[in-house]
Amino acid sequence: MTEQGKVEWMRVGDLSLVPAGTSKVFTVDRYDVAVFNVDGTFYALENACPHQGGPIADGWVEGLEVTCPWHAWCFDLRTGKMTLGDFAVIPRFAVRADGSGIFLSTTPLEEL
Ligand code: FES
Repeated sequence: MTEQGKVEWMRVGDLSLVPAGTSKVFTVDRYDVAVFNVDGTFYALENACPHQGGPIADGWVEGLEVTCPWHAWCFDLRTGKMTLGDFAVIPRFAVRADGSGIFLSTTPLEEL
């Protein structure tokens, strides 16, 4: 159990697993988390589109927006919120990456 509001980190792999311009899915506890590297800045969203569960990690990234590969709903990588409407949001995870690896929060930020 974590103290409320405190991030519990899990190392998921080496930094080299997610080069700039790519994304990769990691399993953290009961979540599949899509980690995106946009020009050296990392973002992490649950790998399940709120529409029908599409694999958001396989979406197209343009700027800070990812488009779901199944039916093209678009989301802001920073907030997880839809960019063409405000009725859907993807849970976000805290992510940090440095020479010692990529680390994810073990629960979505919204649950901390
Ligand atoms: S499952 Fe993502 S837009 Fe339909």
